[in-house]
Amino acid sequence: MPVQPWFPTFVYESPLLGKRSGDFAQSLLGECHAVREQDSEGQLWCRDNYPAGYTSYGTRRNLHRAVPTFTALERKIWVHVKRFADHLDMDLREADLAMTDCWVNIMSRDAVHPLHLHPGAIVSGTFYVTTPPGCSGLCFEDPRLEKSGNAPPRLTNCRPTNRQHVTYDAEAGKVILFESWLRHEVASNPTLDERVSVSFNYTWV
Ligand code: NI
Repeated sequence: MPVQPWFPTFVYESPLLGKRSGDFAQSLLGECHAVREQDSEGQLWCRDNYPAGYTSYGTRRNLHRAVPTFTALERKIWVHVKRFADHLDMDLREADLAMTDCWVNIMSRDAVHPLHLHPGAIVSGTFYVTTPPGCSGLCFEDPRLEKSGNAPPRLTNCRPTNRQHVTYDAEAGKVILFESWLRHEVASNPTLDERVSVSFNYTWV
């Protein structure tokens, strides 16, 4: 077939922690809860704007600078961001990527994270701290969808690369990276137990 794929959209997924990192994961989970407990301003905001969920995005998003466990997490994530940037052939000879934001998300039952992107950042991602079985995944949208106009719908059994949405399962211990302009969402979480993740942005500095 004389057809080549151009302008692909890359999403990176990898385990972040080794098998003996149970203590680190446990301590990170404790820190996530501590951030929520200490953030009364954020809790108030979430009560009105993020039902059944907590995010420190608006109130505490420098956790990689403020809390040593998150600084350790930043170090672990960097290896993967570098690998992802290499895959994207980013020219980082004159400036490098650096984590600028790092925040906690805790989704209880029925919490929804609607479609959004991360303006001002280059690479964004999420590390999953605890993910109860059946919790919502991370759904990405084809960035060209708004340009598709009157195009016919895709076959339900279309090739994976022709899908207009793709959902990654949320799995504790894994990190997912994507370019920050890629829109994504988390559907209503059906689990009774909390789904906890740490999200972050990297910009070019
Ligand atoms: Ni996001």
